[in-house]
Amino acid sequence: MCRDGCRGRRAPVLSAEDLHISFPGRRGGPAARAVDGVDLTVGAGEIVALVGESGCGKTTLARALLGLVPPTSGTVSFDGRPLDYSPRALKAYRRRAQLVLQDPTGSLNPRHTVYDAVAEGLRVHRAHRVPEDERAAVARALSLAGLRPPERFFLRYPHELSGGQRQRVVIAGALVLEPALIVADEPVASLDASVRGEILALLLRLRAELGLSALIVTHDLGLAWNIADRVAVMYLGRVVESGPVETVLTAPRHPYTKALLSVLPESPLPPTVLTGEPPDPTRIPPGCRFHARCPALAAGAAGVAARCVAEPLPRLRGEGVACHLP
Ligand SMILES: Nc1ncnc2c1ncn2[C@@H]1O[C@H](COP(=O)(O)OP(=O)(O)OP(=O)(O)O)[C@@H](O)[C@H]1O
Ligand code: SF4
Ligand SMILES: [Mg+2]
Repeated sequence: MCRDGCRGRRAPVLSAEDLHISFPGRRGGPAARAVDGVDLTVGAGEIVALVGESGCGKTTLARALLGLVPPTSGTVSFDGRPLDYSPRALKAYRRRAQLVLQDPTGSLNPRHTVYDAVAEGLRVHRAHRVPEDERAAVARALSLAGLRPPERFFLRYPHELSGGQRQRVVIAGALVLEPALIVADEPVASLDASVRGEILALLLRLRAELGLSALIVTHDLGLAWNIADRVAVMYLGRVVESGPVETVLTAPRHPYTKALLSVLPESPLPPTVLTGEPPDPTRIPPGCRFHARCPALAAGAAGVAARCVAEPLPRLRGEGVACHLP
């Protein structure tokens, strides 16, 4: 468990530097700047939660970190080397960094057995030429994902499994290639509360047993609290607050983080419901990009109101907060 002690001593496995991803505008309109200057690192054996409201750019950033979306500018590095976007190099990268998708029903082919679903990655990468080796690798991955004895699941189809079991099959499919890192996009969003706890426990166990690094994308701050070492809070394409999970979630400094936390049932903060238009990456406001919705600015912003509306904030590198308030 790395929750405190080893922070800062681990070289990043995955990092993004000044990453930008834009999508062309519709009918000649302005481009959507979905990721707009992000720096982020995930260390060896570290779990980082990326949190923020719907549409803030989490999935786009996660996909770019896996090389699935080419950046408009900026750099993604793995093991200290910038990604090579040639098809051959990307294929090799996908063995080391695996995506675990949000919806296990949608990401599993209903006509494929559990065995075939888990073996698919091995076959794509031609990892095993001998059937016995493939069978052993599939059994190991299912076991690691908590489906035991694995042979009992080999010939089952997705519709014969519970939601939690399907999510475990998706995780086994990622683990079978023995990656160094997984990126999980809302890994428990479609599961009910009891199963959610089991999958979180599984992710923590995988980190302890395999030293796996993980970036967990979620809009659920409770999930971040339960699983992550560090958290990065994203708003409209930027990270606005980042740090150890205990610090950010017990003593949030950015007004946006405070508002997100204040509406959790157990929060001691007075509930702050964010008003104003939902953020639109085709129309990023001048000054602080959160200013039109900021409760601190609405309350006077302690002498920095003029800067809030006019002065853009530098991008956040490393831990800290992007806000003009001291
Ligand atoms: N292919 C695309 N073309 C144009 N715009 C896109 C594309 N993909 C994403 N966007 C826009 O980029 C922004 C960020 O989308 P993204 O899916 O990354 O958000 P998210 O934080 O993952 O949201 P959610 O929590 O709802 O999954 C959104 O405004 C979305 O409409
Ligand atoms: S810079 Fe100003 S508008 Fe932006 S979050 Fe801080 S107080 Fe609010
Ligand atoms: Mg998403």
